[in-house]
Amino acid sequence: MTHQHSVDSAIGILDSGVGGLTVVREVFRQLPKEKVLYFGDTLRCPYGPRSSDEVRRFTLEIVRYLSGSPLKALVIACNTATACALDEVRHQVNVPVLGVIEPGARAAIQVSRQGRVGVIGTEGTIRSSAYERALKRIDPRLYVVSLACPALVPLVESGGVENEESRKILRESLAPLKGHRLESLILGCTHYPLISSMISQEMGPGVALISSAEETTRELIAILRRDGLLREGPSRRPEEHHFFTSGHPASFRNIAEHWLHQPLQVEQVVLPALDESRVG
Ligand code: DGL
Repeated sequence: MTHQHSVDSAIGILDSGVGGLTVVREVFRQLPKEKVLYFGDTLRCPYGPRSSDEVRRFTLEIVRYLSGSPLKALVIACNTATACALDEVRHQVNVPVLGVIEPGARAAIQVSRQGRVGVIGTEGTIRSSAYERALKRIDPRLYVVSLACPALVPLVESGGVENEESRKILRESLAPLKGHRLESLILGCTHYPLISSMISQEMGPGVALISSAEETTRELIAILRRDGLLREGPSRRPEEHHFFTSGHPASFRNIAEHWLHQPLQVEQVVLPALDESRVG
């Protein structure tokens, strides 16, 4: 899959819905000269509670769609999809594929001198132990506490407003992390950076919050630089990027324009189901 790529090819970014726009926001900030093709599978969101086989299949369907355009890198911005499908996607395409888990794990280790790291994510991500494995591959002596926080994606999607009700949900969700003397907490879900100030208040100033979106974009820059594929020249105009959603384009556009502060082209796409016997 995927065409010949060049400096002018796009960066493909995929997510289960709008959450991966936190990665797009970072790419726009750190790589304004690059073109983005984004796919949000809003129709089938959330991925968090689904089986890993289903998430893997959905992810491959999106990868196949995005690969119909020239790409120079692909970012799986969804933690759950990274946990379930990263290795397989790497076998399917001939461009660098980044997930959000390894960059987040590396960044957490850098700021945790005593090696005490927490991870929060969806049920699917935590059940896969993908963060724990990525962390322990780098340093097997780490003390890792992982916690599924199923209430937080709905909290963000309902606006993520800082009020007493939101703080109560957060306090209850994060309570099991108390007493572990954590030095860092990986926000292992696309949505959590959007409520990071509330999470930080809850965890206290001694716990460094790690946003996978920022770390992944840094790694993307390093890979494009290594391959001589960083684009020079003027910043991209808003209309050069393309956003695809399996769901309702108007509601996707409302949220995306609000988060990204620019007008966007959003197109609805019906993904053909994957015929696994023809993959590869
Ligand atoms: N994008 C998902 C993740 O980062 C969160 C939303 C969902 O469950 O689909 O894990």
